[in-house]
Amino acid sequence: MPLSEVKLLELPKILDPRGNLSFLQNNDQLPFAVQRVYWIYDVPGGDFRGGHAYRSLQEVIISLSGSFDVVLSDGYEEKKITLNRSYYGLYVPKMIWRQLENFSTNALAFIAADQPYSEQDYIRDFEAFKQTV
Ligand code: TYD
Repeated sequence: MPLSEVKLLELPKILDPRGNLSFLQNNDQLPFAVQRVYWIYDVPGGDFRGGHAYRSLQEVIISLSGSFDVVLSDGYEEKKITLNRSYYGLYVPKMIWRQLENFSTNALAFIAADQPYSEQDYIRDFEAFKQTV
C-alpha cells in the first residue's frame, strides 16, 4: 500500500467551556467498522512500540494524551507523523510498516482496528515486509 493512503483524519470536536469532547462512531468518521480497541501507556522514555505491519488489518491511531511519533514505511519511502492532539486520527491501511516512538511522559496511544487480534496477520520482520511488498 503506498504511503499516500495514510491519512490524518480530523475528528469531530465539540468545543465547550466545560471541556472539549471528540468521538468516533461506526461508520461516520472511519473508513471501516471498529472490531477492537487497545491502548498503549506507561512507555519508558526512549522506548518504542509497534515495529511491524499488518497483512490485512487497518487501524486508526490517536494520541489521547501527550504526544508520540508514528514512523511509517511502505517499503520504498518513510515518513514520520507526530500525534499530539486527541482530535486527530491517523488512518493506517494494511501493509504499511509502522512504529510508535518518542513517547512523552503520560502519553496515551489509542488504536481502533477493524479486526480482532491475530498474530498471523503480523509481519514483524522488515526485510520480510519489503519482500512481501
Ligand atoms: P504487539 O501488538 O506485538 O505490541 P507492539 O506492536 O507494541 O509490539 O502486542 C504485544 C502483546 O500483546 C502480544 O503478545 C499480543 C498481545 N496483544 C493482545 O493479546 N491483544 C491485542 O489486541 C494486542 C494489540 C496485543
